[in-house]
Amino acid sequence: MKPLQMVDTKTQYHKIKKEVDAAVIEVMESSMFIGGKVVSEFAENLAKYHGSKHCIPCANGTDALQIAMMALDLQPGDEVIVPSFTYIATVEVAGLLRVKPVFVEVDRRSFCIDPAVIEKAITPKTKAIVPVHLYGQAADMEKIMAIAATHKLFVIEDNAQAIGCDYTFSNGTVKKTGSIGHIGCTSFYPPKISALLATAVPCLPMTMPWQPN
Ligand SMILES: Cc1ncc(COP(=O)(O)O)c(C=O)c1O
Repeated sequence: MKPLQMVDTKTQYHKIKKEVDAAVIEVMESSMFIGGKVVSEFAENLAKYHGSKHCIPCANGTDALQIAMMALDLQPGDEVIVPSFTYIATVEVAGLLRVKPVFVEVDRRSFCIDPAVIEKAITPKTKAIVPVHLYGQAADMEKIMAIAATHKLFVIEDNAQAIGCDYTFSNGTVKKTGSIGHIGCTSFYPPKISALLATAVPCLPMTMPWQPN
């Protein structure tokens, strides 16, 4: 029996080989191995794509999540609400900062955090909600942002698996996932959907539409 190849990065690469090779050589020739023009342009383009004010490239999606929690000044003993079904990075960064992850069940159809259960998990120590847009499907951001506004909580979107996903609000407004909460984090790990965008730099698009007390 022929083994199933779940992630075929070789075929993906060969489809866009010319572009990728030229981009790699451009970076080597410029010798800008950290930051530089290519990374700035990438950040600008990704921010524009998301309609976000800022985009901060960092090493990977896990770092992006940790930096987001640090940027929001989450302290040991604070609590963050996370879905009970996600990739480990969403939760391990909280553990690393000694922030307590409080697990909330996911919706059976979307596999994303169930807003109907979030409020029951909120305590005086809760500082943030971390919805994860899993398998290219958006969490119910309208309800999540309303809960966050009521309780003055930050929202950090884990958009590692859903870059490019559109979320439609009840009034018809459409926004990219990762640009709705206070900070959105994404990943360019090769098997991710984002890898199809043919870039190798991870980033953290940041937006601050309102500031909880
Ligand atoms: C939901 C989710 N969050 C975070 C990450 C972490 O991203 P990275 O592998 O770039 O550190 C991943 C991917 O591995 C993920 O699937």
